[in-house]
Amino acid sequence: MEVIIRDTREEAVSLTAAIIGKALREKPNLTLGLATGRTMESVYELLVRLYEDDGLDFSLARTFNLDEYVGLAPEDPNSYRYYMKKHLFDRVNIDPRNTHLLNGMAEDLYAECKRYESLICECNSIDLQLLGIGRTGHIGFNEPLSAMQSRTRPKMLTEETVAQNAAMFGGPDKMPRRALTMGVGTILECKRCILLVTGEEKAEVLARAVEGPVTSMISASALQLHPNCVVIVDQAAGSKLENQSYYRWIFENEPEWLSYQ
Ligand code: F6R
Repeated sequence: MEVIIRDTREEAVSLTAAIIGKALREKPNLTLGLATGRTMESVYELLVRLYEDDGLDFSLARTFNLDEYVGLAPEDPNSYRYYMKKHLFDRVNIDPRNTHLLNGMAEDLYAECKRYESLICECNSIDLQLLGIGRTGHIGFNEPLSAMQSRTRPKMLTEETVAQNAAMFGGPDKMPRRALTMGVGTILECKRCILLVTGEEKAEVLARAVEGPVTSMISASALQLHPNCVVIVDQAAGSKLENQSYYRWIFENEPEWLSYQ
């Protein structure tokens, strides 16, 4: 795992978008794992800009989203399919047939999760997975006590996660209690992961995920086991990390990152 601390939120987001853009230019048929949520909105905004201004080509890319709420149709404005269309898919030249999300309306949710896992396998796994972290330490919707080897499955959301996202639904009572999510094990099999975290409210959980013990109580800590994972944070989110100067030293000296400076 590598940790990169950028001074501002804008710099953290822009580095994330630059890494994705570079990966897509190097491999036009990249299989990209996507996340939703507030943090990612500005990443998608920058990817759209790269498409419009610099000709970043999505025509051969394939995408798999991490999660979807149970019981929401794709046209529901709170569904993650809707979110992805609004922020990315309808604004770049991606082929809609290459964009995959779990179907939260499936009659048999377990069969739906199995189908998704097989599809990821058929695509020879995910090349680059974008991740955010929730206040409970979740990645995807892998809430505390998600097994390290868990696969795509239905998962009950915690009260804290409901509180985190309820505003978008007009209150906690209107928000689904369950979601389908890729498992921690599924995420660990992605070839490369980027965890993007911004804002002071994530500082505590981020420090536990990165510098604390690997524990299923904080699913993001499982990323310590991943062979190719970079954690990109702004100063606010990184403010509770103990080894900030070490992380800054790596970014300033590691050849891979010099091209981004
Ligand atoms: C959503 C997802 C979640 C979010 C996390 C942070 O697809 O994977 O793990 O990344 O809840 O959400 P925000 O960015 O809204 O704080």
